[in-house]
Amino acid sequence: MDKFIVEGGQRLKGKVAISGAKNAVLPVLAATLLTAGRNEIQGVPRVRDVFTMIRLLSYLGAKLESFEGDTLVIDTTGVNKSEAPYELVSTMRASCLVLGPLLARLGQAKVSLPGGCAIGARPMDLHIKGLEALGAKLDLNQGYIQGTAQKGLNGNRIYFDTVSVTGTANLMMAATLTEGETILENAAREPEVVFLADVLNLAGAKIVGQGTDVIIVQGTGALRPIECRIFPDRIEAGTFMIAAAITGGDVEITNCVPLHVEPLIYKLREAGIQVETGERSLRVLGNGGFRSIDIKTQPHPGFPTDLQAQTMALMTLAKGQSIIVENVFENRFMHAAELKRMGAEIFLDGHTAIVTGVEQLSGAPLMATDLRASASLVLAALAAKGESVISRVYHIDRGYEGIEEKLVRLGANIRRVS
Ligand code: EPZ
Repeated sequence: MDKFIVEGGQRLKGKVAISGAKNAVLPVLAATLLTAGRNEIQGVPRVRDVFTMIRLLSYLGAKLESFEGDTLVIDTTGVNKSEAPYELVSTMRASCLVLGPLLARLGQAKVSLPGGCAIGARPMDLHIKGLEALGAKLDLNQGYIQGTAQKGLNGNRIYFDTVSVTGTANLMMAATLTEGETILENAAREPEVVFLADVLNLAGAKIVGQGTDVIIVQGTGALRPIECRIFPDRIEAGTFMIAAAITGGDVEITNCVPLHVEPLIYKLREAGIQVETGERSLRVLGNGGFRSIDIKTQPHPGFPTDLQAQTMALMTLAKGQSIIVENVFENRFMHAAELKRMGAEIFLDGHTAIVTGVEQLSGAPLMATDLRASASLVLAALAAKGESVISRVYHIDRGYEGIEEKLVRLGANIRRVS
């Protein structure tokens, strides 16, 4: 398994271009199952989760025509299997996104329950309840969700008890081929959900309300193949913004959407860090010290849970005490123990972490536990005194395209060893 060796202390300087958004491309790839044709998707990041999703779609009968540069062409005419096997789903929860499209397209689906992961139980109850409301019959056995919709699906009003990003995506996709009108209430408002709705509409779907908490879908008979360009990854952009801040550097982040990282822009400015915004770029100047801030993670447009771990790393070096409340997942402080081994002062109490800033972190051998925790450890290692060895970096490869090359180009002393 690969490791990163990081020698801390370099101030990052220069420009970095952000890759396509992992959490935008995964639902769009699942949506190709709704079409029977040649789908062309540009701006696709070469990250592990994308290759896992391609493997899953191929397993279901889709044909990968090409994946050159950031352009992926996949033909879903031949989709004829409706089972997503455990070995694929267990490595990537987003595989659950094929459930809705398979039920709508083939009238049946057998998808392994994703199982828990480091950050929480990751249940599927809202996906199941919503699809049953559309008329599907879903049973759980031997770790699989087995669903049928032989008489087709019928539009209905669905209320999400909890805001669920992939829950909203799954139901929205299923509803595009469902007879009648479907209303999703307390729907997710993430930019990736809005993007999916817009892409489906370009393929002939009839969706309105995306970006609000009520999405309305009129079913259509069929969709045209999907063609789109994935927008830049707001979590990768946020991670590099924090990399600039934590190393006291001066980094220009190009090919990004400042609007998508607004919560972080406001919080960094509140901490006294200079952030300049352009049309499709950002500049972050970590000119020396910064103050502590308090954050509460919320569904969009609140502060994103996917930037919580990275922000905690930053706050370990802030002046003062920060309070971080994780409201979305039940166990998303796994990075805290590792940061404490570097000298951070963090007190955990349930969903709350109290971070008291220290003068300096020191490098240490570290273990990555999940995708965003890994990013948090890289950030801390970049700022720490001395060498850190971060193991299990396959977690970070799931959602960051060539992160070490991008960091080296900014002056970081980081290398990958197998
Ligand atoms: C998506 O996960 C993202 N993944 C996650 O990003 C992100 O952290 C999360 O949304 C929240 O923004 C993808 O888009 C592929 P949820 P998802 O359903 O959809 C509870 C990353 O790092 N819930 O919005 O799985 C759930 O337990 C990943 O890129 C139910 O109770 O998250 C959680 O507490 C990590 N029942 C809350 O809702 C359900 O049926 C939000 O989960 C579904 C969810």
